[in-house]
Amino acid sequence: MFRRNFILGVGLCAVTGAVLLSCSTVERTVVVPVDIPGATFVGNGACYECHTNFVRAFPFSPHARVRVETADLKASTGCESCHGPGSKHAAVGGGRGQFIVNPGKTASACFECHLQTRAEFALPQRHPVAEGKMNCVQCHDPHGRDILKPARGLAMARLNESCAGCHREQTKPVVYEHEAMREGCTVCHQPHGSINAKLLHQPDPNLCLRCHAQVQGPGVRPGDLVIGKVNHTLLVSRGACWASGCHTAVHGSNINPHLLY
Ligand code: HEC
Ligand code: HEC
Ligand code: HEC
Ligand code: HEC
Ligand code: HEC
Ligand code: HEC
Ligand code: HEC
Repeated sequence: MFRRNFILGVGLCAVTGAVLLSCSTVERTVVVPVDIPGATFVGNGACYECHTNFVRAFPFSPHARVRVETADLKASTGCESCHGPGSKHAAVGGGRGQFIVNPGKTASACFECHLQTRAEFALPQRHPVAEGKMNCVQCHDPHGRDILKPARGLAMARLNESCAGCHREQTKPVVYEHEAMREGCTVCHQPHGSINAKLLHQPDPNLCLRCHAQVQGPGVRPGDLVIGKVNHTLLVSRGACWASGCHTAVHGSNINPHLLY
């Protein structure tokens, strides 16, 4: 299998109802490792007969905007940008291992286009994708309407549930909920990788101060940090809010309403 350079024309056309909101075309050169000797691009329509469900769901995926630019083909080629040109596969009646690429669980197929994501997964703290312990499609359905749900996951699955599948400890119901959790795990964690421990956006109290802005007012000396009704000026100098025996139960607590433990 060779590597070849394609120009992928990414038509960013958003259609809502009958209203055309915006339409522009961004050209990018991407190295697509999928080449199937002797095969040509045939367009998504050629897959419909045999893979009806994929083709039906696909227009709602952000990947439907991707297409391989070929002089002689106007049809949408989203499927083939990941799976390779499909003419020979279709001609032999399809089948596993029949002139088509199945990227399966390998991230390299995704990294061809998502260079930023590749860089994130190379950071010192990361979800172990490169280590082969998990993969992109456990969090992203490459075909469906909802790219932020796991492939073949429950239709109900939403952002937090996709983390819950593997992290039960942080997602089980608690007596004293931390309302931050309602905004999703990603308000505090980077899902791919981070320079900070535990994939946190920030390593220090700034992570929490984004929402817990300090209170100004009568009785509060300038320069003092008051959060809730408690003067935190000295407390935050001890370190991160969740360390030093303070709010160790950031995900919620069964015992303490102030999330101390
Ligand atoms: C963004 C890349 C991407 C695009 C675009 C894409 N696919 Fe896929 N496809 C994948 C990946 C990754 C897998 C493997 C998923 C897995 O193993 O869970 C896959 C698997 C499949 C399979 C095998 C399913 C099975 O039972 O193992 C079929 C069939 C398929 N895709 C058809 C299509 C069709 C048809 C389209 C266009 C409507 C399409 N794909 C568009 C990435 C893509
Ligand atoms: C004539 C029917 C037919 C057409 C047309 C067809 N396929 Fe398939 N394809 C199949 C069958 C059958 C399988 C085996 C699926 C299975 O066993 O569940 C398959 C398997 C696949 C797989 C998985 C391959 C593997 O090795 O695991 C991919 C990916 C795929 N098709 C993509 C496509 C794409 C993209 C198109 C359109 C360009 C397309 N197919 C057109 C019948 C077809
Ligand atoms: C051929 C290039 C290409 C490949 C291969 C590809 N993508 Fe994409 N992906 C795109 C483009 C283009 C977009 C739309 C970006 C935009 O709207 O700005 C996109 C969007 C996404 C998004 C959603 C971004 C958002 O903001 O909603 C996710 C998640 C994603 N891709 C994951 C994957 C995964 C997982 C794979 C591998 C199975 C993959 N991609 C393979 C080109 C690609
Ligand atoms: C642990 C689950 C998880 C895994 C594994 C994962 N992602 Fe994501 N990804 C997410 C979440 C959650 C978001 C949304 C981030 C947000 O909204 O802040 C996201 C966002 C994205 C985006 C949109 C741009 C961005 O960074 O916000 C792309 C592209 C993407 N992921 C590609 C990939 C690729 C490629 C892989 C595999 C190498 C992958 N992801 C693996 C959870 C995951
Ligand atoms: C498919 C399973 C899976 C999914 C889904 C998943 N994770 Fe993970 N997560 C892991 C694994 C495996 C590790 C590495 C654990 C280790 O090395 O001990 C990890 C590590 C982490 C860590 C760092 C833990 C530590 O002790 O350093 C955080 C934080 C995290 N995940 C958050 C999330 C968030 C947020 C989501 C949803 C966007 C998510 N995870 C989705 C499997 C998953
Ligand atoms: C309000 C911010 C915040 C939110 C929201 C949040 N986390 Fe965390 N999470 C943290 C902090 C801070 C740590 C580090 C705790 C420590 O080191 O003691 C952490 C640690 C973790 C760890 C590592 C294990 C541990 O307890 O040290 C995992 C796994 C994790 N979080 C998963 C999740 C998941 C899954 C969600 C969503 C359901 C989530 N987190 C939502 C702040 C948050
Ligand atoms: C996305 C916004 C958001 C982030 C980020 C956030 N919180 Fe919260 N937190 C809330 C909301 C909303 C409440 C409930 C209202 C209140 O008590 O202020 C709350 C409540 C709390 C409480 C209970 C208040 C009490 O009565 O004692 C503590 C403790 C707390 N958060 C600690 C933290 C810590 C520690 C962090 C950083 C790891 C953090 N929060 C990050 C939104 C957030």
